[in-house]
Amino acid sequence: MSVLTGRDIVGSSPALRRVLDIALQAAPSSATVLVLGESGTGKELLARFIHQHSARSQGAFVAVNCSAIPEAILEAELFGHEKGAFTGAHARREGRFAKADGGTLFLDEIGELALSVQVKLLRVLQEGEYEPVGGDTTRADVRIVAATNKDLRAEVSAGRFREDLYYRLNVIALTAPPLRTRREDIPLIVDHFVGLYCKKNGRARLGVAKETLDRLMEYSWPGNVRELENVVERAVVLCRGDRLTLDDLPDVVREAETTDASTITFSVGTPLDEVERRLIRETLRQAKGDKSVAAQLLGISTRTIYRKLGEMEG
Ligand SMILES: Nc1ncnc2c1ncn2[C@@H]1O[C@H](COP(=O)(O)OP(=O)(O)OP(=O)(O)O)[C@@H](O)[C@H]1O
Ligand SMILES: [Mg+2]
Repeated sequence: MSVLTGRDIVGSSPALRRVLDIALQAAPSSATVLVLGESGTGKELLARFIHQHSARSQGAFVAVNCSAIPEAILEAELFGHEKGAFTGAHARREGRFAKADGGTLFLDEIGELALSVQVKLLRVLQEGEYEPVGGDTTRADVRIVAATNKDLRAEVSAGRFREDLYYRLNVIALTAPPLRTRREDIPLIVDHFVGLYCKKNGRARLGVAKETLDRLMEYSWPGNVRELENVVERAVVLCRGDRLTLDDLPDVVREAETTDASTITFSVGTPLDEVERRLIRETLRQAKGDKSVAAQLLGISTRTIYRKLGEMEG
């Protein structure tokens, strides 16, 4: 199994590969990309990945968190302003669109964008032009990647997000998969962060006890990769021995009820071979590794399960 690293996007699960494939296909175009996904799934990482694989990679990658900037100054922040455009505008200031000219503008938390700014954003997306506050019409060659963990369609229905802007942003949509749906990436990600944080803390490379990794693979990770990263960093700092043990994990991870291991969720459109692989793997886990019990549960012969497992490893 190969490890995909596109500026540290670690993982090799089919779900992640599919997203990276689409990202790679979309990257060279100037199409707007909308990155969806729960908190901590790597949306910003994906946005940077798209920028790095585009013809604009030499240009700037400019990130704006739409929820962190108050509505009153967001317009000037995005589009810039002329000297004297408003009280306190002592000098002319370039906006983020101008900074991202020839590069990529990452609009994070786009679901929080005020309606007044949505109109202006739509115009740049459609016409490629905008007006700095108090200034004349100007142009910018900017590729937009937007991200949100909100259900934008629901925001449209609630009247909080413009439908025309939604369609204009949603040219190519990518969904960063939640970590609990691609547990097979957990060992790789753990390994990556153990290495990173040992280095950062000037420690020799720590190992990971098997029961610790088992626990990390069972936990539901509501905060996704960010939560896993924090848990690993903490464990590396607290670890007294030469490998991470259960004691190094926070209570919430150590004591959480194992997620209902008898249920697996698949998105509509999941390739059948992936459904089969995960079903076999989870059944085998429930059967505590007993292949004939698992085969019986799945209604296949023991020979068949051995063959399928062989194919999965091959
Ligand atoms: N596949 C991955 N491999 C390695 N690191 C990852 C991966 N996915 C996410 N991370 C790391 O997890 C953290 C969260 O990622 P990121 O900020 O891209 O998530 P996000 O989806 O933008 O989260 P939020 O919605 O909370 O803003 C970052 O430190 C990032 O480097
Ligand atoms: Mg983010």
